Amino acid sequence: MQQKSSNTVWHHPTITRADREKLNGHKSVILWFTGLSGSGKSTLANEVEALLHEKGRRTYVCDGDNIRHGLCGDLGFSDADRVENIRRIGEVAKLLVDAGIITLTAFISPFKADRQRARDLVAKGDFIEVYCRCDLSVCEERDVKGLYKKARAGEIPEFTGISSPYEEPENPEIIVDTDKHSLQECADQVIRYLETKGIV
Ligand code: ADX
Repeated sequence: MQQKSSNTVWHHPTITRADREKLNGHKSVILWFTGLSGSGKSTLANEVEALLHEKGRRTYVCDGDNIRHGLCGDLGFSDADRVENIRRIGEVAKLLVDAGIITLTAFISPFKADRQRARDLVAKGDFIEVYCRCDLSVCEERDVKGLYKKARAGEIPEFTGISSPYEEPENPEIIVDTDKHSLQECADQVIRYLETKGIV
């Protein structure tokens, strides 16, 4: 990104993330869900959020489809637009984690470099990559939104997994096999990770 805002000076906030975490009684982190369309990112992020919410944790889900109705409504699905989409979400997640919130993002985020850039925006340990691993054939069979059918028919260009690439994470903190395990099992796996790391 070209930095165009000159003559700006960083203002140090009075209340810090540590103050907010203390008030909340828990740490804040980013749970970055990535995977093909239909791999269950949104469903899982919402389920994990519900479990955390029940435990009294402050949370927020940023969902790709939803964010594309507003903040990223000016972006399509070219490589360049996806890069910008993920850049913005990385910045939003950085703000939310500073706000003391357990932030769950559910974007395909198909490019490794973009996920790395989002990771590099925050401190080590703040970014937990959750790979929703699911065979393309299963996503396509589910076809919850009917988009794979359209993509195969050539009605949606640059569709991830069909005509646009998905770069698998190499070292994600968590891999959930959403085509092998139930939603509950996958959600429990994420919660267990957070418990093991002392985050919740
Ligand atoms: S990303 O690639 O930029 O991370 P994002 O997660 O925001 O994508 O949006 C993906 C959602 O947009 C999909 O779940 C699907 O509902 C919809 N969509 C529409 N067109 C496409 C496309 N060409 N490729 C992938 N998803 C698409």
